[in-house]
Amino acid sequence: MPFTKNILSIGAGYVGGPTMAVMADNCRQCAVNVVDIDADRIAAWNSGEPPFYEPGLKEVLQRALNRNLTFSTDVAAGIRDADIIFVSINTPTKTFGDGAGMAADLQYWEATARQIREHAGGDKIVVEKSTLPVRTAASMAGILNPKGGQIRFEIVSNPEFLAEGTAIRDLQRPDRVLIGGHQTGSGRNAVQEIVDIYANWVDPERILTTNVWSSELTKLAANAFLAQRISSINSIANICEATEADIDEVAKGIGMDSRIGPDYLRCSVGFGGSCFEKDILNMVYMCRYYGLDDVADFWHKVVTINSYQKDRFVRRMITAMFSSVVNKRIAVLGFAFKADTGDTRASPAIDVCRQLLEERAVVVVTDPQALPGARADLASFDGCVEYEEDPYTAAAGSHALAILTDWPEYRDLDYKRIYEAMEKPAFVFDGRNLLDHRTLHALGFNVYGIGKATLIH
Ligand SMILES: NC(=O)c1ccc[n+]([C@@H]2O[C@H](COP(=O)([O-])OP(=O)(O)OC[C@H]3O[C@@H](n4cnc5c(N)ncnc54)[C@H](O)[C@@H]3O)[C@@H](O)[C@H]2O)c1
Repeated sequence: MPFTKNILSIGAGYVGGPTMAVMADNCRQCAVNVVDIDADRIAAWNSGEPPFYEPGLKEVLQRALNRNLTFSTDVAAGIRDADIIFVSINTPTKTFGDGAGMAADLQYWEATARQIREHAGGDKIVVEKSTLPVRTAASMAGILNPKGGQIRFEIVSNPEFLAEGTAIRDLQRPDRVLIGGHQTGSGRNAVQEIVDIYANWVDPERILTTNVWSSELTKLAANAFLAQRISSINSIANICEATEADIDEVAKGIGMDSRIGPDYLRCSVGFGGSCFEKDILNMVYMCRYYGLDDVADFWHKVVTINSYQKDRFVRRMITAMFSSVVNKRIAVLGFAFKADTGDTRASPAIDVCRQLLEERAVVVVTDPQALPGARADLASFDGCVEYEEDPYTAAAGSHALAILTDWPEYRDLDYKRIYEAMEKPAFVFDGRNLLDHRTLHALGFNVYGIGKATLIH
């Protein structure tokens, strides 16, 4: 039976790959093609082994691959054959000129829009899947629909809310799917086409349609709110450390208020990942552009507190270890920005390790999935960092353990064995409050959590 629609994703990364795999899995009547300029990534997808670790992804990929899901480096052919084009490319922060370090660098986005116009050959719906500054759809329209253009492109915003580590569950059972379009006849038709795709597996009540600008802003605002909760609880954790209040007790008391709710109240060494900081800074830049300086300052503090949290973690380590870590071996347990991913983009472990290395510590990194990322992130310290698959080998001979990722398997390590193989006094700095601190203390460790009383001998 011929396919009813040809769907394309430009970009086969953490968003484009899983999103299209789940779409193909649920819409067998559609042909779903994913293109990328990264030939290694495409080869990995085509081998049936995803290019990165994501629970459940391999099974979904293997069900749909070469049935109605294909991967290719031929971007031009992909564009030509598609009815609907999801643009899922990366949107990094600008590193040069005006807005450096804050604004989104949209040069790749513009290049992609021009490529779509060049190869389209007929009318198409172009969907913004990436996270973008508000009003990007207007710039896109300027490029795609110039005066006198023969082909019409309808631009729809459909930001992605998946979280790495739970991407497949998030895509199969999303809290909501947001689809924003222009309030014109053709705009409404385009939105309906995207609604119809998602309606194959998503409850219609969870499909929300809005105007295009609301959709673009909602994605930035949602990430800002999530990151703000983390910075809020981290700031309270710091008060706990000063006052002998316990952050778990305080978080429970806060979260039982139905107006606040219990989710996202876990304190830590700080948030990471490719999105939170980038998206907030992008929103801050946008606020300043619109003259909303007080609003910009408010949201910028979320990022400031996050940097403070990472710095404070390292300062506590150094102070606790007699104000020097020179030549002390420190085992870093976990480098990924969160559990169940190998992604290290903007991981707090990067800043923590860098600061420890600058203080001339000997850093040994272990992580079940993220050692390749750690090697790349710490490449400038080549020769000063060790990478170990086995956490016991990493810990042997070390003065301290720093828990930087909430991998559940770290709970189940034999800490008696680890303690015996470490230098004394042995320290644990638990940047995720993952471990049982009392048990560790009873084994002989000096234990430092976040927002908790220190347990020292
Ligand atoms: N990673 C997440 O958890 C997440 C969640 C929601 C939204 N987002 C947003 O989605 C977007 C993509 O994020 P990601 O994590 O998938 O990024 P990524 O870096 O993993 O993937 C982007 C891919 O796009 C490809 N690409 C770039 N320019 C291209 C071009 N001109 N033609 C073809 N391919 C091109 C790159 O080679 C890369 O493989 C970003 O805007 C991000 O903010 C990410």
